[in-house]
Order: sequence, then structure tokens, then C-alpha cells
Amino acid sequence: MAIREILEVPDPRLKQVSRPVETFDDALKTLVEDMFETMYDAPGIGLAAIQVGEPLRILVIDLQEPDEDAPAEDCGDHGCGHDHRPVKKDPRIFINPEILDPSEDLSVYQEGCLSVPEIYADVERPATIRARWQDLDGNTHEEDMDGLMATCLQHEMDHLEGILFIDHLSRLKRNMALKKLEKLRKAA
Ligand code: NI
Repeated sequence: MAIREILEVPDPRLKQVSRPVETFDDALKTLVEDMFETMYDAPGIGLAAIQVGEPLRILVIDLQEPDEDAPAEDCGDHGCGHDHRPVKKDPRIFINPEILDPSEDLSVYQEGCLSVPEIYADVERPATIRARWQDLDGNTHEEDMDGLMATCLQHEMDHLEGILFIDHLSRLKRNMALKKLEKLRKAA
């Protein structure tokens, strides 16, 4: 396994349309392992293959939500109010994903992206979807999704079409976000 470099805006490779996976071999497994290692290291909750420079229709997602079954942990002295329960690992792999039946109902999440570091903005997307995808062995799966999972899958699927979450913003807001990123980079 290896941590790969994550492409960032304005790298033109992020605008590519990714091509379908046709061969389900060991090279695919290695790429997916690298994607998980890169995503957990970043850290992030989703990554598309093009973000590590591979224009293939592959996504990895792990929402890393607090483990609902674990006992609630006291904040102790620092009283920050965060959920201190351990995170439940739930690595998901989506190869050649498709969205079926996006709902007319929309939901808004504040999104971020490892390719647009330090920038967050509200994006509106269908609240529920049905997704179809293939696994590492080429078997097809379908599942209804809602909440953060539905949003995250749609965000990652945008990457396969060369679309970033900031492309959903008005030109004014997008330019403000890119300027802010430029400033942060200069300061770093
Ligand atoms: Ni992203």
C-alpha cells in the first residue's frame, strides 16, 4: 500500500471524465488499497481515483461516524461537547457507480473536498438516491441511500465527470473560494 499525492485545484486533470473499469484484477485491488490509505491519511471521508491521478470510475468512501453501539464517552475536564465515542470504520468501494431515482427532495450539506483544501460551502443535492455499482470482483450491487452517504456518493460521482463541489456555487462564491485558497497557500 502507498499514500498517493492528492491533486488539487486548479490541476487540469481534475476536469477529466473518468473511464469505466473493465478489468477486475490485482492492479485494481492495489489502487483501491492506495486510495483508502490516502483518504484515511488526509484525512477525508471520500476519494475518487482521479484525485490521485487515475481517470477510472472508482470511489472509496468511509463516513467514519461515531460508533452508535459504543458507550458515550464523557468529555471530562475539557467539556468541548464533541462526541468522543470511537469512530466506526465502514470502508465502502464503488466501481462504475450509477445513480438511479434521485429524489425531488433536496438536502443541503456543508461540503469540503481533499482537492479543494480548507474550503467549505453549502451544496444542495437530491436527498435520497438509489445507487448501483460494482465491487472489486465485478459483482453488481444496488442500495437506497440517504443522509450524508447520499450526499457523499453524489459529490464523489461528480469527480468522475470532472466536476468539483465549488462548480455548484455561483461564479461569485466560487471565485471567492478560490481566492481564499490562494491566500491560504501563500500564507503556508
Ligand atoms: Ni471531493
